[in-house]
Amino acid sequence: MSRTVYVNGAYLPEEEAKVSVFDRGFLFADGVYEVTSVIDGKLIDFEGHAKRLARSLAELEMPNPVTEAELLEIHRELVTRNDLDEGMIYLQITRGAADRDFAYPQDAEPTVVLFTQARSLVDSPAARTGMKVISIPDIRWGRRDIKTVQLLYPSMGKMAAKKAGADDAWMVEGGFVTEGTSNNAYIVTRTGKIVTRHLGEEILHGITRAAVLRFAREAQMEVEERPFTIAEAQEAEEAFITSASTFVMPVVELDGTPIGTGKPGPVATRLREIYLEETRKAAT
Ligand code: PDD
Repeated sequence: MSRTVYVNGAYLPEEEAKVSVFDRGFLFADGVYEVTSVIDGKLIDFEGHAKRLARSLAELEMPNPVTEAELLEIHRELVTRNDLDEGMIYLQITRGAADRDFAYPQDAEPTVVLFTQARSLVDSPAARTGMKVISIPDIRWGRRDIKTVQLLYPSMGKMAAKKAGADDAWMVEGGFVTEGTSNNAYIVTRTGKIVTRHLGEEILHGITRAAVLRFAREAQMEVEERPFTIAEAQEAEEAFITSASTFVMPVVELDGTPIGTGKPGPVATRLREIYLEETRKAAT
C-alpha cells in the first residue's frame, strides 16, 4: 500500500516523492521535525506541535515556510488521503538545498516533508506490561530544546537498549536523568509525588509533558519539576515516560532493578487514562 506524502506543496505517491542530494537536512542534519499523533482520524495537540515547530525554526534562524493554518490543512489532507484512523504524522522542515557549505545559504527554499504512519497507539501491549529501561550517558549537543533531526545518538541508545534486552534508554548527565531517547522521563516517589526534570536547554519541552503535568495538577496530584538520579528512580514507587507516540507509558525496570512492584503502577495508569480521555475530547 503506497502512502500519499507531502513534499513542498505537492501530494505525491511515496515512490515519487524526492528531495535533493544537496538538501541541508541530508548533509548537515540542518532541519527540525515534529510528530503529531492521530486518534480516530483526529489530531492530538496540533497547536502545541505547531507552536514548538515555529520556536525550533526561530532558534535556528530558519524561515518558517508555512503558517499554522496551512500546516493544519496539510495534516488534515494527509489524514483524509491516507484514510488514517490511528497513528502519527511526521513533519520535517530543513533549510533546503544549496551547494555544500557550512555557512547558511542566503537564498535556499526550505524543504517541507510530511508523511503518515498508521499504528495502533491506544491499545498498546507496552502500556499493559510496562517498559524496561537502561541508563546511558547523555552525550548529545547542548540545545536539546530544539527539535532537530540529529537523532543518531538516540538511535544508538535504542540499539544499546535492544542489545541489553530492554525497550529504551534514559540518558544521564552530571549524575541526573535528562530524558528518554525519544520521550520525557518521570518517577513517582514513595510519597506519591510526580517528579520530572525542569525545562531548560537540556531536554525537549514535550508537548505531552505539558498536557500530562496540567492534568496531574488538575487531579490534585503533586508535581515537582527537578532533576532525579538513577538511584532515586530505582527506589521510586513508579516510573513512566511521555511522548506524542506513546502518550503515558509505565517503566517497570531500570538497569535490571524492578521499580516498585515491577508492574505498571496506579499513577501512570491513571495519567494515561486521563490523558487519552482529555486529549480525545480536545482533538482536532
Ligand atoms: N519524540 N524528548 C525527546 C528527546 C523526544 O524526541 C521526544 C519526542 C520527547 C517528547 O516530546 P512530545 O511529548 O512533544 O512528543 C521528549 C518523538 C515522538 C519522536 O522522535 O518520534
